[in-house]
Amino acid sequence: MFDNTLFVSSFWSWYIILLTVPGIIGCFWLIIWMSKGRSKSDDEPVATMGHVWDETLEEFSNPLPRWWLGMFYITLFFGIIYLILYPGLGSFAGVLGWTEVKEYEAEMNAAKTQYDPLFDKFKSEPIEKLAQTPEAVKMGHHLYMTYCTICHGSDAKGVPGKGFPNLADAEWLWGDTPQDIEATIHDGRNPPEASAVMMAWKDTIGGEEAVKNVTQYVISLNSNRAAEVDKTVAGKGQEVYMTYCIGCHGPEGKGTPAMGAPNLTDDVWLYGGSKGGIETSVALGRKGTMPAHGEFLGPAKVHLLAAYVYSLSHGSESGKPQ
Ligand code: HEC
Ligand code: HEC
Repeated sequence: MFDNTLFVSSFWSWYIILLTVPGIIGCFWLIIWMSKGRSKSDDEPVATMGHVWDETLEEFSNPLPRWWLGMFYITLFFGIIYLILYPGLGSFAGVLGWTEVKEYEAEMNAAKTQYDPLFDKFKSEPIEKLAQTPEAVKMGHHLYMTYCTICHGSDAKGVPGKGFPNLADAEWLWGDTPQDIEATIHDGRNPPEASAVMMAWKDTIGGEEAVKNVTQYVISLNSNRAAEVDKTVAGKGQEVYMTYCIGCHGPEGKGTPAMGAPNLTDDVWLYGGSKGGIETSVALGRKGTMPAHGEFLGPAKVHLLAAYVYSLSHGSESGKPQ
């Protein structure tokens, strides 16, 4: 078995120290040895190494230039001082106590002191008002571009058919009051442990036939799709719907925002409104998850994000994505 005590023991620390320290001493020795002969007076003839190229090109045995030696010494002393002050020599932490974590925390704290007041300024203002305040909407938009575009798109129109909802339209899974939107962003929706989800219905309602029937009924709820509907099949589907689906999607199919159950009577489909799309939703179930952002972003940023999202569908000029 792999022996990982080797990595937590001081072995590697000593390994590095025993390479580094003799290395530095070796450099000193080399440079002192190379500087020998520097005391020669200028008019003494320079010895050659005895190598000749191209008939006349000889290699002289001149001492190293002073500037070059100076640089070499400076480099060595810099290295030694650095290893005393900062971590580098094995597990020796350096006398300054510098760590990457401390540096990161210092930078984060500096950024917090600089930016937090900007976000906090809007924290106590109501979302409806912020949605009309260009400065707040702009800040919310910046946050949106950083944290939300990956799923909802840079125009906030979502990804139709893939379960990422449009945030700029009038259709809402979880409600569109400022409180609803803020709660959606802060706490997320449909965490893995949630009970109100669209489960896989195929086996419960009686197999493929029943899925096809109830799909016909769902399509019949969309008044502009009458041509697609076979009335007798839809009639059978209605029974299934009234038994199993009504509790969440409502008697008229208009949905229940408190459960995130979508309206099935409009043209907006989270997962696709074709016959195949609806059949898949019903047979296999759906479980779109909006991740919680509250802990990660803090209430002030969530508040500004909610104001931005609210502004997209609650008609203010300043709310248009810039
Ligand atoms: C990992 C993908 C992902 C990210 C990142 C994400 N969302 Fe969502 N969001 C979703 C999904 C999926 C849903 C639909 C949840 C459902 O099916 O019930 C959703 C739903 C929502 C809703 C509710 C829409 C409605 O119709 O009620 C809002 C509002 C929202 N997101 C805003 C945001 C904001 C603001 C951000 C950035 C802070 C964000 N989302 C980041 C995936 C994401
Ligand atoms: C426990 C509540 C619940 C029940 C019961 C339920 N649904 Fe759903 N349904 C949901 C939720 C929640 C979603 C949205 C899933 C998501 O956001 O990922 C959904 C989504 C759907 C969708 C996809 C809508 C779209 O926009 O793409 C269809 C279609 C659907 N349900 C049909 C049905 C039918 C038919 C039944 C009865 C057999 C049924 N549902 C029963 C809660 C329910």
